[in-house]
Amino acid sequence: MPDTLEKEVQVNKKKVGIQPIVRYRNISKSFGDLEVLSDINLDIAPREKVAIIGPSGSGKTTLGRLLMTLEEPTSGTIEVDGELLWHRKAKGKLVRANEHHLHRMRGNIGMIFQHFNLFPHMSILRNVIEAPIRVQDMEREEAIERGMLMLDKVGLAEKLDVYPAQLSGGQKQRVAIARALVMRPKVMIFDEVTSALDPELVGEVLEVIKEIAEEGEMAMMLITHEMDFAREIADRVIFGDGGYIVEQGPPSEIFGNPQSERLQSFLTRFRSQEGN
Ligand SMILES: Nc1ncnc2c1ncn2[C@@H]1O[C@H](COP(=O)(O)OP(=O)(O)OP(=O)(O)O)[C@@H](O)[C@H]1O
Ligand SMILES: [Mg+2]
Repeated sequence: MPDTLEKEVQVNKKKVGIQPIVRYRNISKSFGDLEVLSDINLDIAPREKVAIIGPSGSGKTTLGRLLMTLEEPTSGTIEVDGELLWHRKAKGKLVRANEHHLHRMRGNIGMIFQHFNLFPHMSILRNVIEAPIRVQDMEREEAIERGMLMLDKVGLAEKLDVYPAQLSGGQKQRVAIARALVMRPKVMIFDEVTSALDPELVGEVLEVIKEIAEEGEMAMMLITHEMDFAREIADRVIFGDGGYIVEQGPPSEIFGNPQSERLQSFLTRFRSQEGN
């Protein structure tokens, strides 16, 4: 693209503005006296892949759980695709949204946890189709068709009829990914999805996540200790500590040229652990 045209496109983009798919506005979250998140502002663009890194206890999971509607913010708002998640406006004031609204909004968001939480008494296929049928009123036929497609995507087309206990940890986690994908979320949160796995099973799960990321359809929030992975697939890395976003930027900057003392020492500690 010629320089002048490129500039014009940039200017137009700014004028039109891209509506973020996720917008945290002045979000604080406390558990009792402990403030875990302090006035967080964070926009995630459609299709953007954001990695969240930071020390244990810095509020990474809480950030994801607020978006998944598993924890309620103490103050502030979250918007998903331009719509308030936890609130609605009534007579110009913000009031808490009802369960019906939360339920509907939740359909836009998928979350994969460290522990897979599969239903042990259901086959793999049933694990994957249960939510779309019950929560999204998807026709059974369509759910089966989509479920099979998603299981194929995560490399488990052969395992439709088996039960979770018959799968390895890596396979279970891939089922959990298929189960989230089948709902067509606009944003997926991956919370340390490989940290409970035996080391030899980590690669297959990261590979699946990478493929989904490359398809590029959804925004992703990757809470991770896998720094190489974050570097490889994230558009932006966010380093949080003490309830604040301390530093953020492209992976090359965050890992290659960390500015704050806190990020520098986090990365140094991390690298020395890796080296052991
Ligand atoms: N439901 C809860 N009740 C009370 N305290 C909580 C609750 N959930 C989280 N916390 C506390 O909030 C802080 C942040 O927890 P969070 O799980 O968000 O951290 P994290 O960054 O995900 O840590 P890790 O890297 O260990 O997973 C911790 O001190 C934790 O003990
Ligand atoms: Mg966590």
